[in-house]
Amino acid sequence: MNLAVFASGNGSNFSAIIKAIRRAKIKVKSVILVCDRPEAFVIKRAKNAGVQVVLVNRADFASRADFETAIIQRLKSYKIDLIALAGFMRMLSPDFVRRYRNRILNIHPSLLPAFKGAHAIKDALDYKASSTGVTVHFVDEKMDHGPVILQERIKIRSCDNLASLEKRIHALEHKLYPQVIRLFCSGKIKSLKGLKPIL
Ligand code: GRF
Repeated sequence: MNLAVFASGNGSNFSAIIKAIRRAKIKVKSVILVCDRPEAFVIKRAKNAGVQVVLVNRADFASRADFETAIIQRLKSYKIDLIALAGFMRMLSPDFVRRYRNRILNIHPSLLPAFKGAHAIKDALDYKASSTGVTVHFVDEKMDHGPVILQERIKIRSCDNLASLEKRIHALEHKLYPQVIRLFCSGKIKSLKGLKPIL
């Protein structure tokens, strides 16, 4: 498998994935970072780890279609067959999803379908939910939607604030995402419709 991690920001999940690859817990032939923001901290993480950075700056493209065409060209040149979204703050178009169907994973800091969107941890706290969690799922055409692969629950404590809950959620993410990628790469996770060729 050749893996592309897509990230737009901090990149702590990216680092957790790279660590698992370095420790040979995940067996991939190659890994690249695809990033859409030149100022993202994840780029520094990738450079420090010696991971190839593919920067495709959304601001350089007039339309989402042109932006995605540029990404797809790069994915093809690196022969990518698995994409892990890790804090990638853009919706992929239906055409992009179709090309890589069953080969795009996402991690989300809630028990989907609860608390979709960019503020899932805060939303669970504000809602006064008694628990929340982490979901890893296949990506489809809708936001934070698609077949769930793995979920784990976390209790929200009465003393929790955003920082303390975020810390526990992120620690759980850093455990679950490498696990799922490892299972996918060893052929143990397949979508019900099977793994289709890349178009
Ligand atoms: C994570 O909470 C992930 O679940 C969500 O975006 C966040 C990315 O964090 N999709 P990081 O950039 O990996 O630190």
